[in-house]
Amino acid sequence: MSTTILVLGASGQIGTELTQKLREVYGNANVIASDIREGNEAMMNAGPFEIIDATDKKTILEVIKKYEVNQVYLLAAMLSATAEKFPQKAWDLNMSSLLAVLDLAKEKHIEQVYWPSSIAVFGETTPKNNTPQETIMEPSTVYGISKLSGEFWCKYYHDKFGVDVRSIRYPGIVSWKTKPGGGTTDYAVDIYFKAIENGTYECFLSKDTRLPMMYMADAVEATIKLMQADPNNVKIRTSYNLAAIDFTPNEIANSIQKYLPNFNITFKPDFRQKIADSWPSSIDDSAARKDWDWNHKYNLDRMTKEMITSLSAELKVM
Ligand code: SER
Repeated sequence: MSTTILVLGASGQIGTELTQKLREVYGNANVIASDIREGNEAMMNAGPFEIIDATDKKTILEVIKKYEVNQVYLLAAMLSATAEKFPQKAWDLNMSSLLAVLDLAKEKHIEQVYWPSSIAVFGETTPKNNTPQETIMEPSTVYGISKLSGEFWCKYYHDKFGVDVRSIRYPGIVSWKTKPGGGTTDYAVDIYFKAIENGTYECFLSKDTRLPMMYMADAVEATIKLMQADPNNVKIRTSYNLAAIDFTPNEIANSIQKYLPNFNITFKPDFRQKIADSWPSSIDDSAARKDWDWNHKYNLDRMTKEMITSLSAELKVM
């Protein structure tokens, strides 16, 4: 049977690039992009696009039927920093959308579901370095609470109803095509924009805050790899730890200075510091590497090189 995919939240940071890649892999007509508002021109023109509120089960089902969709990638969510400001809204969006999609899979309207979790499921009591797959999880943010609950909903629907739902705990994702919005790891994207536009960046985290991170190309590849894996190899049905690189604001600044020697960084930590301090510094992702052959390709300097080259062209500077 052919694969027809619906992406919910296709205009977001991950959605934009994942949709583009899925269209390359499965064909433009077989990947239906959707979001609560219109996407960028490239996405709207390349293939089908539908306006969908990811919490609206009825509309999701109509679109599934219209295109004979068999896989849903649910990427709509409110990220950590914004969720602290709108806790109820974040909980409603992050949970209702997941339960709607899991129910649609349980009711056999679709065969496979992808849903992202995050390093935010960990908390202050979690071992910080090389954080294991299974460990103490006491998240301190609304976003983290929603992701941890979501992971167990996924496992519950899998174990109880046989729903084939797969998930990754993303670290901070660095990309240039679409900016993230409202996350704690967003500094690692903003820093490149500001380095190119202004030559200087005021960082909202302190210089030695080490966080797990990943370049978008790796994140997209991991996601598709997990979804294409033999179901018997997908042994973890909460969510897989996934890692590539980890660095501090100081280290990313040093990496940028290799290409832009006059770049200058200053530090002014705000409320996001506390969120970052509750998250791991690095992640043990050996289960993903073993179960479905995950391997990252980008280290910090390779990522910096690609970010600076692509963004400079995009912003038409240098
Ligand atoms: N990047 C996310 C955030 O900062 C973590 O999943 O909220």
